[in-house]
Amino acid sequence: MASILPIARMGNPILKRAADPVDFDQRKSLEALVANMIATLDAQNERIGLAAPQVFISQRVVIYRIPARSHQRYAQDTLDAVPLTVLCNPVITPLSDIREEGWEACISIPKLMGKVPRYTHIRCDFFSIDGVSHMIEATGFHARVLQHECDHLDGILYPHQMTDLSTLGFEDEIVSKNANIELDIV
Ligand code: NI
Repeated sequence: MASILPIARMGNPILKRAADPVDFDQRKSLEALVANMIATLDAQNERIGLAAPQVFISQRVVIYRIPARSHQRYAQDTLDAVPLTVLCNPVITPLSDIREEGWEACISIPKLMGKVPRYTHIRCDFFSIDGVSHMIEATGFHARVLQHECDHLDGILYPHQMTDLSTLGFEDEIVSKNANIELDIV
């Protein structure tokens, strides 16, 4: 049975360190970790991704999935869904110098959101849980999700990447009371 794991919140040292590479010889424990991460993400309301350090496991593992239409907190630029994907030892390479600002939130920083500049076009090289190498090319919101989650593996949280801290605020204040967000979503 998979377990819902406790969440590390900003300020906890586990979120500040670079995570260790996945050891594919430890397949059973890797499978258990991923199953528990999926159960933990499913228990969150409308959240998109989770990195292993957020559940106190300092390994380079990320899971994410993008629903066809994400929660209105995000200014999602595509309705393309991405099924549940597991990334082990992911490496992101920008494919363009262009960065765009967009809203982000994080399970480890409850109730807050802010605008973060991210590369609009990237590739992500990674291994699946069985140790096979893969590559994803991603743009827009999908690229943003990958950069946010993979940053967790290097001890970086989205506020560290923000260039305008005046956009940092509480989700319920921003989403429900700021008409500009609605415009972003449309
Ligand atoms: Ni996060």
